[in-house]
Amino acid sequence: MSPKNELDHYIVNGGKPLMGEVSIGGAKNAALAILAASIMTDETVTIENVPDVRDTNAMMEAMEGIGVRIKRLDRHTVEINGSQVENVNIDTENIRKIRASYYLLGALLGKYRHAEVPLPGGCDIGSRPIDQHVKGFKALGAKVSIKGGVMKATAEQLLSAHIYMDVVTVGATINVMMASVMAEGKTIIENAAKEPHVVDVANFLNSMGANIKGAGTDIIRIKGVDRLHSCTYSVIPDQIEAGTFMYAAAITGGNILIKNVIPKHLESISAKLEEMGCHIEEFDDAVKVSSFGKLQSTNIKTLPYPGFPTDMQPQAGVALALAEGVSTITESIFENRFKYVDELIRMGADIRVEGNTAIIEGTDGFSGAHIQAPDLRAGAALVLAALAADGTTYIDDIHFIERGYEDFDKKIRDLGGDIKKTADIKTAVKKAKYKLIS
Ligand code: UD1
Repeated sequence: MSPKNELDHYIVNGGKPLMGEVSIGGAKNAALAILAASIMTDETVTIENVPDVRDTNAMMEAMEGIGVRIKRLDRHTVEINGSQVENVNIDTENIRKIRASYYLLGALLGKYRHAEVPLPGGCDIGSRPIDQHVKGFKALGAKVSIKGGVMKATAEQLLSAHIYMDVVTVGATINVMMASVMAEGKTIIENAAKEPHVVDVANFLNSMGANIKGAGTDIIRIKGVDRLHSCTYSVIPDQIEAGTFMYAAAITGGNILIKNVIPKHLESISAKLEEMGCHIEEFDDAVKVSSFGKLQSTNIKTLPYPGFPTDMQPQAGVALALAEGVSTITESIFENRFKYVDELIRMGADIRVEGNTAIIEGTDGFSGAHIQAPDLRAGAALVLAALAADGTTYIDDIHFIERGYEDFDKKIRDLGGDIKKTADIKTAVKKAKYKLIS
C-alpha cells in the first residue's frame, strides 16, 4: 500500500475530448526483464529508454540490495554493473510487490547457478501459476524448491534442454531464455510466447553476446555461450501505454497523435478501434487516432500476441460501454480481469459478467463517481472513463496506475484533460457535496 499523505488520488473533471500529441515511453514489461538480465555480465551495461515508473524503480532498488551497482545517467538511462553481487538471496519488501521479480531467478540462476527470490506479487488479476518457470528450470538441470513464499533454484551445471511450454507464457519464456543463455549446448523452447517484449529481451541478450534465434516465433533456439559482455541497449516503446492513449482518443471523442511507437505492435489494438468506427493513420513511428461521434459495438477476445492483449482489455471495455449496441469481451488469459466493471457500473455502464465473458450494452454516457483503481490497467481504463464522464470523478489507489504509467496525469493534461493528483480526497469529496447541496 502507498504511504499516507502520498498523492494517491486523482480528481478528474470529465467531458473534454483529448487532443494533441503524446510521446510514449519505454516498455515497462521489457525493461523489467532487461534490468534483471543486465546482471548476467560482470561488465557495465547501459540501458536507455527505461520508464521511470514504480515497478522499474522497485526492481532497481532490489538489485541494489544484492550489491548491483546502478548509476542513473538521466531519468531514463541507467548504467548497471553486476560484478559485485554479494548475495543471490533477494528478499526485500519492494521485490515482493512486483510480479517481474521472478526474472531475477532466471538471471541469477543463469549466471551463478543459484537464486533465491520471493514469489511474485504484482496485480491481482487472477491466479498466476509459475509451474512453467519451474518446469523450464528443472529441464535445464536445476533443483527447484518453494518454501515460505521463496523460490530457490540451484544447479551444479546448467544443461541444454528441449522444453515444450504447456501454455503460452511471456514470463516463463523470458525466464527460461535467460537461464539457458550460458547453459551447455542448445536449448529449444517450443510454444514460446511471441510478445514484443520477448523479442526485445532476446535482442538485448544477443547484444550482450548471447546466441538466441527465433524470438518472435513459437520456437526459440538458444545456443549456450561462455560469457556475456557489456552493451548499450534501448528498450522498445510501450505497446500498452500507446494502446491506452489510442483508446483515450476513442473514449473521449478526441484526436491524438501517439508518437514513438512501433505501429506493427499495435495492429490488434488498431483493428478493434477501426471496427468501433475510429480512424487510424499509421506513420513510421507514430499512429494517429481520431474518433468521430458514437463508437460502434464489436466483440473482443484476449489472446497471446499477435492477438488482442489482455493488458488492453479494461480500456476496450470502457470504450465498448459507450458504443452503440451490444458487445462482448472474452478474457482468455487471466480470470480476474473484470474488476473494473463494478466501478464502471457505478459510473452508469451497463455490463454483465458471465464467467470469462462480459456482455456490454452501450450507454449514452458515464457520470462522475467516487471510485477505486483495482489494479494497474483497470485503473488506467477507469481514468479514461472519468475523462469521458459528465461531472467529477474521484479515483483512489492510483499507486497501482503509477506502477506502469510515467507521468500519466501530466500527459493527459498536455492533451487537454482536466486531471489532478491529491493526497486529501476526503476534503475534495466533502467540498463537492457541499457545493451540490448549497
Ligand atoms: C506478463 C505481463 C502482464 C501481461 C501478461 C500477458 C509482465 C511483468 N507482466 O505477465 O502485464 O498481462 O504477461 O501478456 O511482463 N501461466 C501458467 N503457468 C506459468 C505461467 C503462466 O499457467 O508458469 C498462465 C497464466 O496463468 C496466464 C497465462 O499463462 O493464464 C499467461 O501468463 P504470462 O504470459 O506468464 O503472464 P506474466 O508473464 O505473468
